[in-house]
Amino acid sequence: MKQVRGMGEIQRVLKARNWMKTNENFLGTWHAHVGYKMDLFDAFKKAIHPEAAAVEQQVSSELLQRWVDVGLQVGHLKRARNGKVKAKKDMIKYASKNSRESVGILLEEMLELHIPTLLEYPALLKSDERLTYLGDKFAEVVAETSTLLEKAAVSPILSWVKKEKPASIIDLGSGYCGYLRAVYDKYPNTELIGVELSEEVVKNAREKHGDKIDIRQGDIENFLEEYDGRADMIMAHNLLYYFPPEEREDLFKRISRTLSSKGSVTVICPLVNAKYGASFTAAFNAFMTAHENLYPLPSPEDMERFAEAGGMKVETFKPLIREGGWYLINMKKQS
Ligand SMILES: C[S@@+](CC[C@H](N)C(=O)[O-])C[C@H]1O[C@@H](n2cnc3c(N)ncnc32)[C@H](O)[C@@H]1O
Repeated sequence: MKQVRGMGEIQRVLKARNWMKTNENFLGTWHAHVGYKMDLFDAFKKAIHPEAAAVEQQVSSELLQRWVDVGLQVGHLKRARNGKVKAKKDMIKYASKNSRESVGILLEEMLELHIPTLLEYPALLKSDERLTYLGDKFAEVVAETSTLLEKAAVSPILSWVKKEKPASIIDLGSGYCGYLRAVYDKYPNTELIGVELSEEVVKNAREKHGDKIDIRQGDIENFLEEYDGRADMIMAHNLLYYFPPEEREDLFKRISRTLSSKGSVTVICPLVNAKYGASFTAAFNAFMTAHENLYPLPSPEDMERFAEAGGMKVETFKPLIREGGWYLINMKKQS
C-alpha cells in the first residue's frame, strides 16, 4: 500500500514536471509579444546595456532587465560585450513593428484577443452566457492577420481569375482589400468593389489603394439587398464565421442572385471535419463559440450544401495552409 502511494507521488511529480515543460513554450510567446508591442527588439538592434536601453525607451529599468533575462533564456536575445545585449536578427525581422516582414500582429491577436477569451471559459461554462465580440475594437488586428494568409492564397485566386476572366469582382468583408489589389495589379481593367463594415479598416484600405478599388463602407446584408448590378465573381474570404450557420444557405442564395449567369464564388475559410487542421479548427471554434456574435466553422459537406442552395457547384477544394485547416473553395453557377 505504502509502495503504491510512493509510485503515485512519483507519477504526480512527473505530471507536474511535464506541465512545467509544456508551459515553458508560452514564455517565448509572452516575450515576443512584449517585445513587439514595445518595440524592444528594435531597441536592442545594436548591442546596448539594458539600463541604457531603459533610459532610451523611457521604461522601467528593473522590469526591462527581467524581460532581457527571459529573452536570453528563450533565445530571442544574445549577450554582447561589457554586459551589453543584442536582439537576434530573426526577432528584429519578424517581431518588430517597423519591419515589413513582421508577423507580430499574430502575437497581438493571440494574447489580446484569443487568450483573454479562453480565460473566460470556466465562467462561461457555468453561466452558459456568451461574450460579445467587439468587431470595431479588433477589426484592424483581424484584417491585418488575415493579410498573412494572402501570401498562400493570392496565387490560386489569380489562377482562378485567369481561367474565369471576370469583368467585375465583389469582395464581401474585404478587409484591407489585398485580394482585389492583387487582381488590379494583374488585370487593371477589372471592375473591383470591396464591401467592408469597419470604418477604420475602410479608411486604411482607401489610403492604400486610392481609386483603384471602389470600397464601400457598410454591411454586406444591406449591400446584397441594394446592389442592382451583377458581378462575374464574388469573394467571401474569412467571412463565414460572422454568419450564423442557419443563415448561411440564405447568404449563398443572395450572393448567387448578385452573380452573372456563369459567375463564380471563391470562399476562403478553415473547415472542420476536413482532411487537415483538426486541432487548429477545434481551438478556433472554442474561441468563436465563446461569443454570441461569432459562429463555428463550416465543414466540406456544408460548403456543398451552400453551393447547391445558390444553384452552384463546388469545382475545387484546395488546402491553403494545412496546419490551420484553411481551404479555398471555388464554386461555379450552373446555368
Ligand atoms: C477576417 S477579416 C478578412 C478580410 C479579408 N476578406 C481577407 O480574407 O483578408 C473579415 C472582415 O469582414 C468584415 N465583416 C464582418 N462582417 C461583415 C458584414 N456583415 N459586412 C461587412 N463586412 C463585414 C470584418 O470587419 C473584417 O474586416
